[in-house]
Amino acid sequence: MTYNTSKSKALFERATRVMIEGGSSPSRGPANYGDYPLFIDHARGSRIWDADGNEYIDWMMAYGALPLGHAHPRVVAAVAEAAAGGTLFAAATEIEIEVAELLQRLIPGAERVRFANTGTEAAMAAIRLARGYTGRPKFIKFEGHYHGWYDDFLVNAHPQPIASLGHRRDPIRIPDSSGLNRQALDDTIVVPWNDLAAVERAIDTHRGQIAAIITEAVMANIGVIPPEPDYLRQVRELARAHGILFVLDETVTGFRIAPGGCQQFYGLDPDISTFGKALGCGFPVAAFVGRAEIMEALAWGGVLHYGTQNSSRVGLYAARASLQVLTEDGAAAFRHLWKIGEQLGAGLRAVFAETGTPAIVQQVGPMLQIMFTDRPAIRDYREFCAHVDRDAYRRLARRLFGAGIYMSPSAALHSVASLAHTDEDVRCTVDAVRKALRHGD
Ligand SMILES: Cc1ncc(COP(=O)(O)O)c(C=O)c1O
Repeated sequence: MTYNTSKSKALFERATRVMIEGGSSPSRGPANYGDYPLFIDHARGSRIWDADGNEYIDWMMAYGALPLGHAHPRVVAAVAEAAAGGTLFAAATEIEIEVAELLQRLIPGAERVRFANTGTEAAMAAIRLARGYTGRPKFIKFEGHYHGWYDDFLVNAHPQPIASLGHRRDPIRIPDSSGLNRQALDDTIVVPWNDLAAVERAIDTHRGQIAAIITEAVMANIGVIPPEPDYLRQVRELARAHGILFVLDETVTGFRIAPGGCQQFYGLDPDISTFGKALGCGFPVAAFVGRAEIMEALAWGGVLHYGTQNSSRVGLYAARASLQVLTEDGAAAFRHLWKIGEQLGAGLRAVFAETGTPAIVQQVGPMLQIMFTDRPAIRDYREFCAHVDRDAYRRLARRLFGAGIYMSPSAALHSVASLAHTDEDVRCTVDAVRKALRHGD
């Protein structure tokens, strides 16, 4: 059967008459998908079906928001129960306490919990809290790290030509958007990641002015780039020595790498950490958590954080069901996520070796990305910008759509394993990649 996506094409044409670029986020539009994106009709487990009835093995899992896969029966039942009893109240609920208690038990740094809706909101609240608590204006963020679309973060998050980045001792700050508050980036200090000396220099230059260092636990928006051994702990120590709060963004890594996130996996004790994506298992639930003494600053009259939809009942029912599935039987689900991720990574590496393809797989257990490069490893944003062939990756991903494999079309994103993926899904995917590379252009 020939691969036909004519219904997606027609839907896209209709969509562009009512929404800019046919949708509500550029990630899902032509910037990543070319002429038109696939329109997904429904999904179950590890599979999605588009409007034309084509079936795909889904390795994107809603940008990592679905640790259990699509439409997990326990989540579906929980959501139906919540919706039948009322979705949102202008009042406190017991489910909010229950999920907060679960987070407190699972996450090492979660002495106190505050719910929000998106990773962006959680990160922006975390920075406001750090500024409020320390009374300092600036914060450090790293090149290539994405913490959401809040003005203060939108700098050097997208890949850029290497020649535009400046010297690594004094990075040129490249805003990722027009329309930012003109002062927004004045207090944002940008430094290369996986380079402790760069952080030391920045602290020295802005002595007494820095409220927070915010970092992704694993770089997940420039492919997948793991931290160098002990790097995050050293950054944390440096922050502590200077009265700077260490803010760990676990929006991607939370409930994916280990029950207690990367802070458990790498043995870190962040002052504040942020969660989103996998927490709500497909519903908009996010949280920022931290040391009680710092979180106290959220008390009325201190640092403000509001939200009509914060801790929506439906989202928290989904979160509770998902956290229960993930942590039961001695957190067996995480062993599955790692097994599937490692099988996929190993299979892809074998195919690259077999076909003589200049590509590597970078990975931390369940999250991985293919990088077309002649380098043995990519360690930071600058290496990615200089040495990764993003067009080659994009061509592969688009060919894979036709073979029923849905991997991110963007080289800067990544694939994730879910509880729903099977050994057979891995085998089909590796076979499809082998064929695509053999018959590719
Ligand atoms: C590390 C990280 N932080 C924050 C965010 C923002 O989360 P959201 O899209 O839910 O606002 C993202 C989104 O991809 C992310 O990858």
